[in-house]
Amino acid sequence: MYDWLNALPKAELHLHLEGTLEPELMFMLAERHGVRLPFADVEALRQAYSFNNLQEFLDLYYQGADVLRTEQDFYDLTWAYLLKCKEQNVVHTEPFFDPQTHTDRGIPFEVVLNGITQALKDGEQKLGIKSGLILSFLRHLSEEEAFKTFEQALPFRDAFVAVGLDSSEVGHPPSKFKRVFDRARSEGFAAVAHAGEEGPPSYIWEALDLLNVVRIDHGVRAVEDERLMHRLIDQQIPLTVCPLSNTKLRVFDDMSQHNILTLLERGVKVTVNSDDPAYFGGYVTENFAALHESLGMTEAQAKRLAQNSLDARLVI
Ligand code: HPA
Ligand code: ZN
Repeated sequence: MYDWLNALPKAELHLHLEGTLEPELMFMLAERHGVRLPFADVEALRQAYSFNNLQEFLDLYYQGADVLRTEQDFYDLTWAYLLKCKEQNVVHTEPFFDPQTHTDRGIPFEVVLNGITQALKDGEQKLGIKSGLILSFLRHLSEEEAFKTFEQALPFRDAFVAVGLDSSEVGHPPSKFKRVFDRARSEGFAAVAHAGEEGPPSYIWEALDLLNVVRIDHGVRAVEDERLMHRLIDQQIPLTVCPLSNTKLRVFDDMSQHNILTLLERGVKVTVNSDDPAYFGGYVTENFAALHESLGMTEAQAKRLAQNSLDARLVI
């Protein structure tokens, strides 16, 4: 089944480039820059990847990103991910990057963006993988800081297709970012947002009604609100679900508890994604394989999930 799932053509719509930083590459970049990591070796770092919630993961994720410093680093990071896409027949990807994670430690916005966009261009030319980059705001920071980031990005408007919202969810509802999302949409960008991962269904309502998002990232807590379920089904609003992420961050205790197939069978437009594959134990195929192993996902269901991912692309 793994090989069959791997060969299925699919799109990835929920992937943080910073979350593709494999321990081996982290050590290589640390050496490149003479940085000492607080882990003895790759194995010790992998051992640290055990989380009780989103915040515990984010603390390590932001710390790990510190080795990303030059255009070449961002190129190498993105290229390694694209090679994985090729290996797993991900024919299209719409990755996020978090500019504030880098600009706040003194890395110029252009350094980050140039490295990523050059790799994405090469990915299309040399590997045939299409992409659309999403600029994601960190929701634990202020809306004013998001505005600053957006203004910094505007001169490079052709390099990205949408804005997103990620980082610590609870306590930072979508409503906090209504004005900056209005601004981004007025400039012609699409909007997506993480909502209903750890946060309540009301955050999904806010993402839809206040931020006017065209997709919800995660969204698995929608099942707690029947009226919201009807909205998602009636309007066929895609959810970019990340099964391995959800179990690693304890949104669900075990993969056997995951609700993605229930959502699928109720008619919600769910997709399968890897979120932060270097931290959560697998790329897209591993996520599909886990659904087969733990939930008995059939080939027919896998085909529908893959087709949903192609249908839910922003960039065609
Ligand atoms: N949720 C919120 N923020 C994130 C995530 C996530 O799953 N991954 C990287 N940043
Ligand atoms: Zn995410």
